[in-house]
Amino acid sequence: MPLFDLAPKETSGALFGRDREVAELTRLVEARRWVVVLGPRMVGKTSLVKAVRHRLRRPGAYVNLWGVRNVQGLVEGLISGFNESASLRARLVRAARRVDGFSVGPSGLSVATSRAPLQTAWDLLDLLGTEKRDCLVVLDEVQELSSNAGALLRLLGNVFNTRPNIVFVFTGSLVGLSRTLLEPATASPLFGRAPLSLSLGAFDRPTSAQFLARGARELGLNLSAGDIDAALDGPLDGTPGWLTLFGNNVAVRKLPADRALRETIREGKKVAEAELAHFLSTHDTSLYWPALKAIAVGASWGTVREYVSRSTGGAVNDGTVLRVVRALEANYIARQAEGGYGIVDPMVRAYVLDAGSPPRVTRRRPYIRRSRDRPR
Ligand SMILES: Nc1ncnc2c1ncn2[C@@H]1O[C@H](COP(=O)(O)OP(=O)(O)OP(=O)(O)O)[C@@H](O)[C@H]1O
Ligand SMILES: [Mg+2]
Repeated sequence: MPLFDLAPKETSGALFGRDREVAELTRLVEARRWVVVLGPRMVGKTSLVKAVRHRLRRPGAYVNLWGVRNVQGLVEGLISGFNESASLRARLVRAARRVDGFSVGPSGLSVATSRAPLQTAWDLLDLLGTEKRDCLVVLDEVQELSSNAGALLRLLGNVFNTRPNIVFVFTGSLVGLSRTLLEPATASPLFGRAPLSLSLGAFDRPTSAQFLARGARELGLNLSAGDIDAALDGPLDGTPGWLTLFGNNVAVRKLPADRALRETIREGKKVAEAELAHFLSTHDTSLYWPALKAIAVGASWGTVREYVSRSTGGAVNDGTVLRVVRALEANYIARQAEGGYGIVDPMVRAYVLDAGSPPRVTRRRPYIRRSRDRPR
């Protein structure tokens, strides 16, 4: 698979510059530790977990939870994950006969719609747990289930207690739920058995330059040092997904490097916009947007308070502003930096700096074209 392919990479051989992370995640899964892979959009979370899954060849499922709002969505993801594995399917056929409401037809396992989703999710994981081998279940974009966090945590706590051969790997970028997973309260079913976190960051500058040069070479193109420098000076900033899109724009769409860069940033800002809109759909825009505007210019605490206060006509107190900043930090959107606050993801920062008004609230997936424009 060429480096500039826009789809998530599926194997560790296709991944660039992540040997250490692949080894670390593999080691933790083999040691039966549960892991949350954290990182900003487009940094390569899905690619990493897919590569490790491919490497370990464990029975289980990869479930993408984007847009899933309830446990029924999780159930459907698990079923299609199980059905994708021929060996698992054959065994499930036998096991499923014993479970009321489960059946197996030519297209695989299916479940009666009358069944309660939470019970079904449990039964499915319980079936998987009867495997003799260790199993791996990946829940990508786990924050989507945060409105069902209580039920999900009970389910996970149950699996943890009774099915030690099932290992979960979670990913998230807006990670309200990951926080719940990583720092479970004493009352949480995961208290005392919180997953470990593995943070994925952007490539450093030399690695980013090598990535672009190698990707271009693979497709018979030479990117000049000047073009590479120009690309790495802006908000692409070593984020593998943005480098990939830039490279794809140059090498596959055959755009001149400067135009490819502009298009990549435009696309990146659209993703940032959708990401923030998604966040704001559950947070008060009149408080959060002025805070983001202040934080994008590296404001101190006092300035953030001033921006929020001005935009709300002085109707907020310090406690409210503190809550806003804390929520932005907890969701890995903002962080405290030298002399003030800053926005974590350079593409999100670029979007917030330029936007005249807050993003329109949507539940759409921040998404770039990933199936078209594939290098051949
Ligand atoms: N280490 C890597 N080597 C090569 N390509 C990579 C690497 N990491 C990411 N990519 C590419 O970057 C793009 C984004 O990767 P991926 O979808 O895995 O990221 P993500 O963090 O899951 O993104 P999102 O936040 O949108 O879910 C894809 O085109 C993928 O092929
Ligand atoms: Mg992903």
